[in-house]
Amino acid sequence: MADIIDGKALAAKVLAGTAEDVRAIVSAGGQPPGLAVILVGNDPASEVYVGRKIAQCRKAGIRSIEHRLPAETGQEVVLALIDELNADPLVHGILVQLPLPRHIDAARVLDRIDPEKDVDGFHPVNVGRLSTGTGGLVPCTPLGVMLLLDSVIDDYRGLNVVVIGKSNIVGKPVSMLLLEREATVTVTHIETRDLPDIARKADVIVAAAGAPQLVRGYWVKPGAVVIDVGITRVVDHDGNTRIVGDCATHELDHAKAVTPVPGGVGPMTIACLLSNTVLAAKRAAVA
Ligand code: GUN
Repeated sequence: MADIIDGKALAAKVLAGTAEDVRAIVSAGGQPPGLAVILVGNDPASEVYVGRKIAQCRKAGIRSIEHRLPAETGQEVVLALIDELNADPLVHGILVQLPLPRHIDAARVLDRIDPEKDVDGFHPVNVGRLSTGTGGLVPCTPLGVMLLLDSVIDDYRGLNVVVIGKSNIVGKPVSMLLLEREATVTVTHIETRDLPDIARKADVIVAAAGAPQLVRGYWVKPGAVVIDVGITRVVDHDGNTRIVGDCATHELDHAKAVTPVPGGVGPMTIACLLSNTVLAAKRAAVA
């Protein structure tokens, strides 16, 4: 049987460390770290994610400032709000929940966030910093993926890693982090030919395609580590909603270790958002 990498337990550890950091900041006379969350519209999945982020902030002692704006809010209003939050010294992190309504240009909005407060790591300055290995804030899901991998891998040098998916949120940044560790990284996507053959050569697979159960047992070499970033909601024939990952996990007994869905990458993303917020607050304090 493959080991199941427990994302919930690891996230709890990260959150405990973050809460400890917050207590240390406050007991030294500092302001508690503050995270502003902007949600435009009422996409149901986004509502759930934002609700979880805010609840975890409260638990960790991070001040969360919620800005819920109606779906028809104009782009200029969102940009003006970001300007205000950029200038507010009590706000250390700014998160704009994606996707934004179609009439808003997400790239313009993300570009407006002060890179030092960009706890999602989506600003081009942070993307550049990541690709040059020069600090910056790193996107939360890729950070979480690396912590999960670190729990089963000591040395990445020369390992063959296949990343499935080339998104700005997961595929591209996680590839950069793995390259920094000197893995041999192959980034694949929907147009990649012979994907099962490429995947079968991998020591590590990071599946972030958003394609339910794409990765089958025969795609995975015995002893490989598989990180499943997929979270697709599917409705069963009896009308129940289920979350399904990108991997057919029940076919992966021959893997060394796999992450479950749910309970793998998901909890790590929020934990890393909070640790990024504390990091941004610490950097602001010494700036
Ligand atoms: N929507 C889906 N994933 C994310 C994320 O990591 N950050 C933000 N801001 N929006 C998202």
